[in-house]
Amino acid sequence: TTALAQQTSRFAFDQLPIQTDGTVHVPAGYKWDVLVRWGDPLFSDAPEFNAETGHPTEGSDRIFGENTDGMELFNVGGREILVVNSEYPNPKINLPAGQEGQPASADDVVLLQNIQGVSVMEIAEGENGWEVVVDSPYNRRIHHRTPMKIDGPAAGHDLLKTAADSTGTESLGTFNNCGSGRTPWGTYLTCEENFNGYFGATAEVSADEAVMDGFKRYGVKTDVEPGRYNYHGFDERFDISKNPNEPHRAGYIVEIDPANPDSTPVKHTALGRFKHENAATALTPEGRLVVYMGDDERGEFMYKWVSRDIYVPGGDTSTLMRDGQLFAARFNDDLTGSWVALTPTATGMSEAEIAIFTRMAASKVGATTMDRPEWIAVNPTAVEAYCCLTNNKNRGVKANAGGDDTSVNGPNPREANNYGQIVRWRPHGDDHGKATFDWDLYVMAGNPTVHGDSAYGGSANINEGNLFNSPDGMQIDTTGLIWIQTDGNDKNEGDFAGMGNNQMLAGDPATGEIRRFLTGPKGSEVTGLTWSSDKRTMFVGIQHPGKPFPDGEGSLPRSAIVAVKRDDNAKVG
Ligand code: FEO
Ligand code: CA
Ligand code: CA
Ligand code: CA
Repeated sequence: TTALAQQTSRFAFDQLPIQTDGTVHVPAGYKWDVLVRWGDPLFSDAPEFNAETGHPTEGSDRIFGENTDGMELFNVGGREILVVNSEYPNPKINLPAGQEGQPASADDVVLLQNIQGVSVMEIAEGENGWEVVVDSPYNRRIHHRTPMKIDGPAAGHDLLKTAADSTGTESLGTFNNCGSGRTPWGTYLTCEENFNGYFGATAEVSADEAVMDGFKRYGVKTDVEPGRYNYHGFDERFDISKNPNEPHRAGYIVEIDPANPDSTPVKHTALGRFKHENAATALTPEGRLVVYMGDDERGEFMYKWVSRDIYVPGGDTSTLMRDGQLFAARFNDDLTGSWVALTPTATGMSEAEIAIFTRMAASKVGATTMDRPEWIAVNPTAVEAYCCLTNNKNRGVKANAGGDDTSVNGPNPREANNYGQIVRWRPHGDDHGKATFDWDLYVMAGNPTVHGDSAYGGSANINEGNLFNSPDGMQIDTTGLIWIQTDGNDKNEGDFAGMGNNQMLAGDPATGEIRRFLTGPKGSEVTGLTWSSDKRTMFVGIQHPGKPFPDGEGSLPRSAIVAVKRDDNAKVG
């Protein structure tokens, strides 16, 4: 055993009991405060937030966005620049009351488009704790109409050309920005997840068979109906009966330079098109860039990108997410696995088709269907990585029409998986660039109180004190502790009794011990985690609170980032 494993515990806190109320809790010796909420100004000319109605469309691109998710902090010349995803809207709260969450005008659509995407903002710690530096030259809102450059094998392909962009190399907006990542050269990666939900049809859709198959596999609805957001009722770009190629321009990893507010974000099609959760980066011993990525859908896959070129600090990075090889994961039952290259030879598809219809390419090489891959985290203190497989309620039912059989398999062993698990892999040769690996399950969440010793009771590191379900967000700090965030059932009854509200726990990779650290308000998901440069503050995202958090009765529920510190101001990561 290692010195680490001999310690009784690596945690500097006592386990927090479950909570069921409408606010955030942290253990004794820690405190939390709100950094920023949906609607807070990034610029002094932003409209004032109204506790009952939110804010008007005019100026809604000058405020912090809705439904905070993945985030990363960058130190730019000594200034703390926080870059944060705003995943999706809560139209019933964001749009005027009485509309049942449906846009009634093009103006309403613009409001929704403005409050999603990415917020870039300088933050600083002063006498009132951490605050946004309003009007900082670094502050920026990137939303559903921000110009983007497209690179990689799909750039300029016919499937990416639209009436508005006959080149297929420039798109407007980044969509459903879920998890995050960061490159070794200090840029931000935002990951487009459920982009399909923004498209719809106002008339019968007719397109090539491959395009229609793509709509099915990616969940783009071709029925004539308003759908969840009804952009297409007011903005032709989202009407696939008129613009069937527009959905091919979303579903990518997008790179943003936080140090340069005038830079154009780049969509990297070489890293594949699917429902991207996050992007966890590593370098091989020789310096190639590795990006691990999950496709969050029942029965979809895990992926890895390896660059052709070597990263040289200060050198040209423009090829590192353009030229290289994309792989999909295959897990064997004997606890080994391999990354299978998605090449034209292996798939019978062109490089551009692999980049656009990546799910089909991975099906062709026999990748392993997973229980919804959410965040992947690379351990900075060991050559290993982890992926949250959040849950799967549809075992045996095809993921989407055209998807693969999703019978139980090695890392997805439970038939009705309402709790989730975390898979860990160690690349052979201590090299993230290698095509083979060993894997195990770090934890299977479960409920031993309800299900005893059965598989639904969870693995040995689950006990009555640390119950949770649906692991989703995940980061590993500089000391090697795994921080696990949940997006699950918070009813606290039946199969979920004793689990309380969604939460954040810390895990010790060596002993497997897991301990609850933070709980979110009822109805919320805890997602997004990063640290101040001095590691004395941890920033945690609270998405879609079901209570009027954080402002209390009389105010709307507002997704928010909280700053968590120790009372003695010691490091927290
Ligand atoms: Fe946006 Fe899969 O979470
Ligand atoms: Ca997630
Ligand atoms: Ca989730
Ligand atoms: Ca979410």
